[in-house]
Amino acid sequence: MSEVYNERIDKIISAMGLMSRKDCARAARNGRITLNGAVTKAVDIKISNTDVLCLDGERIVYSKYMYILLNKPKGYVCAAEDGKYPTVFELLPKNYLNLGLFTVGRLDMNTTGVLIITNDGELSHKLLSPKNKVVKTYRAITKFPVSQNDINIAAKGMKLDENDTALPADITRVDEHTYDIKVYEGKFHLIKRIFLALHNQVRELERIDFAGISCNDLENGEWRFLEDEEINALKEAVTR
Ligand code: URA
Repeated sequence: MSEVYNERIDKIISAMGLMSRKDCARAARNGRITLNGAVTKAVDIKISNTDVLCLDGERIVYSKYMYILLNKPKGYVCAAEDGKYPTVFELLPKNYLNLGLFTVGRLDMNTTGVLIITNDGELSHKLLSPKNKVVKTYRAITKFPVSQNDINIAAKGMKLDENDTALPADITRVDEHTYDIKVYEGKFHLIKRIFLALHNQVRELERIDFAGISCNDLENGEWRFLEDEEINALKEAVTR
């Protein structure tokens, strides 16, 4: 989390989801905030990466952007709100709800696996732009075996329906009903539509990799912050 910043103390504390700006001013008056080891009553002071800010003795390590990796479970929708189903944001701490976080693309309600959640709009936009051909790998359990002919059709780019086509996708066989498929674009229901166009059907779908990021260390429903190297890898994936 190493980008350079110059931000007000109250902005930092509220942006981290710790408390509102108003509560922050009160906390400062009560001597709960220290800056470089000394109590500060002013919360409008701008600080940068080299300053040590603490609330109740706990260091606050600020990052302008948050990058979260969630192993999405079934039954959750990728939306800010949904009248019917729980959203993936309900799997995060409550105080993260007002931080302007969104999912980088969407996974269907019953698709599991790698989901990146951030408030970095620029990076998200670049990761989703077909121009950057960012690779995503899905593992699909299919109703029928997939033939070599189907694999060749998908590899060339194919018609999805009357009005839409898919860019070339690489399918590799894991077993008779399990296939890994690499795609370089992010169309709605893309994987299900590819297999449907091949007269097949996806029974289960998991995203196992997004631009080199995987979530093997997380159980379904668990999340963690992306490591600096992972964030850098994402940034590199869109500058190549
Ligand atoms: N393609 C699909 O069909 N579903 C997803 O969730 C993601 C890609």
